[in-house]
Amino acid sequence: EKDLEGKLPLRGKKILVTAGPTYEPIDPVRFIGNHSTGKMGFDIAKTAAEEGAEVFLVTGPTHLKPDNSITKVVHVTSSEEMYNACHEYFDTVDAAVAAAAVADYRPKTVARQKIKKNEGTLVLELEKTKDILSSLGAKKTTQFLIGFALETENEIENAKAKIAKKNLDLIVLNSLNDEGAGFGKPTNKVTFIDRDFNEEPMELKTKEDVAKDIINKIKKHYNV
Ligand code: CTP
Ligand code: CA
Repeated sequence: EKDLEGKLPLRGKKILVTAGPTYEPIDPVRFIGNHSTGKMGFDIAKTAAEEGAEVFLVTGPTHLKPDNSITKVVHVTSSEEMYNACHEYFDTVDAAVAAAAVADYRPKTVARQKIKKNEGTLVLELEKTKDILSSLGAKKTTQFLIGFALETENEIENAKAKIAKKNLDLIVLNSLNDEGAGFGKPTNKVTFIDRDFNEEPMELKTKEDVAKDIINKIKKHYNV
């Protein structure tokens, strides 16, 4: 693509974005999931692509249609599949944004047959999933790594702990408290916190505008 008017500042840059929920199988017909729509990650991927980046979007199940400008869309279902797809692309990218709502736990065993209803209660044993973002943080070299944090208490403190623990360059703290922000809503109220723990609270914005702010952070890092 030509960039005669300088509108493709991210040309030549590769960006990995995760989006959506993960579904963790219980048996052949059931799963544990969450209410993520994928919109935040899809908007980030679209914005980056429109500004010239080569974008790899790894997404869990969603009804959204990815923008045509996105270079490669990888559809996954479980956290394990998302982990594998991310590691396929991470080594070659300049930045990664983890906007997916990855399940923290999954059934320890997946029943081969549909679980039949019985007397009494059903107990599912859950094991922790791999933390995809932490694993990217552990292997990163020059990648600018951005994570999200969803907190309902001690927000700033908990988000800062995630920056350190996951070796992030920037975290986008999502506040569910404010009206109009969060799952299924068109808006988000976020605070940016960088690895030096500088805090930048943002106004309530559409997810499209939050996506632009996030892409601007990547541009600023790369001076483009
Ligand atoms: N994340 C991930 N893999 C997981 C869990 C989370 O990559 N198995 C990523 C999310 O995409 C997000 C960030 O980690 O960018 C933080 O997710 P969040 O749920 O806020 O934090 P957790 O580390 O899972 O901790 P907790 O849910 O206990 O607050
Ligand atoms: Ca979590």
